Amino acid sequence: MSVNYKVEWPMTLNAPADSLEAKQPPVDNGVDVPDPSRYYSREFMQKEWERLWPRVWLLAGVTPDIPEAGDYTVFEIGHEEFIVVRQEDGSIKAFYNVCPHRANRVCMNERGSVARFTCAFHGWQFGCDGHLEKITDEATFDRRLVADRPGLKEVRCDHVGGLIFINMDGRAPALCDWIGLPRGYIENYEIDRMHVVRHVRSEWRANWKTGIDAFYETYHLPHIHPQTQGVMEDFSQYDLYPNGFSRMIVPIGVKSHRIADQEAIDPYQKYMMQEVGIDPATFKGSAREVREAIQKAKRARGRKFGLDYYDKLTDAQLTDSWATGYFPNVQIGMHPEGVFIMRFLPHPTDPERFYYDNMTMVRHVDDPSYSVPGWMGLPEGTDLSGETRPNIEHVPVDVKPNLGEVLDQDVELVAAVQRGQKSRGFRGPLWSEQEQRVRHFHRELDRYINGEK
Ligand code: FES
Ligand SMILES: [Fe+2]
Repeated sequence: MSVNYKVEWPMTLNAPADSLEAKQPPVDNGVDVPDPSRYYSREFMQKEWERLWPRVWLLAGVTPDIPEAGDYTVFEIGHEEFIVVRQEDGSIKAFYNVCPHRANRVCMNERGSVARFTCAFHGWQFGCDGHLEKITDEATFDRRLVADRPGLKEVRCDHVGGLIFINMDGRAPALCDWIGLPRGYIENYEIDRMHVVRHVRSEWRANWKTGIDAFYETYHLPHIHPQTQGVMEDFSQYDLYPNGFSRMIVPIGVKSHRIADQEAIDPYQKYMMQEVGIDPATFKGSAREVREAIQKAKRARGRKFGLDYYDKLTDAQLTDSWATGYFPNVQIGMHPEGVFIMRFLPHPTDPERFYYDNMTMVRHVDDPSYSVPGWMGLPEGTDLSGETRPNIEHVPVDVKPNLGEVLDQDVELVAAVQRGQKSRGFRGPLWSEQEQRVRHFHRELDRYINGEK
């Protein structure tokens, strides 16, 4: 098949230009081939610690994790940790998780709820707004040392659509100006009314960017994940947004165009139909019509279960994955029933390791006849009510993260790519238009590394 991608990308949504699903204008990011050392060199990693991570807005948590005053969650990146805590007035503040006395971590748990923070080392106390409440045996300190009442050091914190971000840099633009996505894009899914029902953090043998690259395109689907071909189109719609943001719309419920038989319904399509109450035995259409039938059924279910926010989502959004890249290190697989929030967290010292942090969030529907789609891969017995926030499942390196077959395939793939990138025989990645999001991401990264931002 020959595709003139400049004029005729194979996915045509016919969406009006102001619609959130409209194809975005192309961005010319050139054809430079970056030096592959960015994937393994300590020097490049050091530049990222100096020029990238402290200066960007980083996804630190989600609002449903801290509903009440005093609720906190800890976000860790490299050697930095942050406490993100709900205030009395409902706002959210964030602090370095470090005691001003002798640098002990003030919070030792991943999350919790407190009236005040007490450092375990010598018992200094801090209010939830970070101010110093009490110094143990204060009379034994020279007054000059503690005259400024050292509290927890605050960092910038803001949230949008249920996603909480922090920024270590005082000069970065406001979050709303920095997020490259149009207004409503995030909000329409009402993530703030979902709950984390599973949280897995696994360690992979690769640079964090090798991970990002693999998750930013569906070009590899037919080769690494052939099992998806019966129910997923791998020619995604790729869109580039300002500030390194991007998304791909991956049509679900359809057979890949690479499969010759577009009539016979795939067993997994049948499964998806059943999940939304369509009986495949009486369904009159072909495989081509399944996606639209599922959209109609989901629309009706949205009304039946009182899910008003479905009204803000297009038909295509009801079936498809809007995989959205939040520069630099987040991708969210956005679906009406729930979202997969993936963070690619760099290892603090090893450029060839990263943590794949995956939060699954779902919208709770208080009706026993409702269920979330099976492809969300939630283990049997997962509490979907939002009443218990599961702890993070930490999965060591070389242990499969139990996130399903597709992820297992990616773990192996990404490690092999990481090894290959170090070969003297490799010149650097050659990105196609199907990998335009990858190029867009690296181009933005370079602006930070080269001092343009
Ligand atoms: S280090 Fe926190 S009280 Fe001493
Ligand atoms: Fe993959």
